[in-house]
Amino acid sequence: MKLRVVESYDEMSKLTAKEIVTRITTNHSFTLGLATGSTPEGVYKSLIEEHKRNGISFENVSTFNLDEYIGLDPIHKNSYHCFMQQKLFSYINIFKSNIHIPKGNTSNHQEECLHYESIIKASGGIALQILGIGKNGHIGFNEPGTDFSSRTHIVNLTESTRAANARFFSTPEEVPTQAITMGISSILDSKEIFLLVSGHQKAEALHKLLTTDCDNMFPASSLKNHSNVTIIADSDAATLL
Ligand code: PGA
Repeated sequence: MKLRVVESYDEMSKLTAKEIVTRITTNHSFTLGLATGSTPEGVYKSLIEEHKRNGISFENVSTFNLDEYIGLDPIHKNSYHCFMQQKLFSYINIFKSNIHIPKGNTSNHQEECLHYESIIKASGGIALQILGIGKNGHIGFNEPGTDFSSRTHIVNLTESTRAANARFFSTPEEVPTQAITMGISSILDSKEIFLLVSGHQKAEALHKLLTTDCDNMFPASSLKNHSNVTIIADSDAATLL
């Protein structure tokens, strides 16, 4: 794993966006894996700026998001479908048909998992996956204990993850108890991975990632099995290194 430590959240976001732009402008078509949460918001803001100010086009880009809550409609204000529309997709020229996010409101969640795996495969696979990290080391919604060989699957969210995400909901009880997430093995199939780590609250997780061996109780450690991972961290997240 390569590690790049930059000064600030802003710098982390701009650097990541620049790296994405380089890849989408030098490839005929590009498949980008996206994440939700607070960490990548700055990257999306910078990508919108690249589109508006520098005319960067997303017509050749397909996207696959990591996860979605089970039980929320795509138009629900807390769904990841809605998050992605509000934070990125509404402001760039990406084709709607090129946007993929697991559906959390189908009648058969198991089938949706298999379908999601099949469309990733049919697209030729993810060229670059953007990831955040949970304080407990989760990637996507792959919580501690998840098998490293997992593909897209249904998860029961841990209380710590539900509590961390409660800030987006009106009451903590409204946070769904389950989600669909790309599995660890699905994530590791990406040709390249950027793991973004920002803020003091992630310093312990980053330290643990860099100092412990692969351990399925710390899902991000699975990234050590991948040959092309770059961690981009801001100085607050790097305080324990
Ligand atoms: P955050 O979440 O970006 O909101 O901190 C990251 C994650 O839980 O994967």
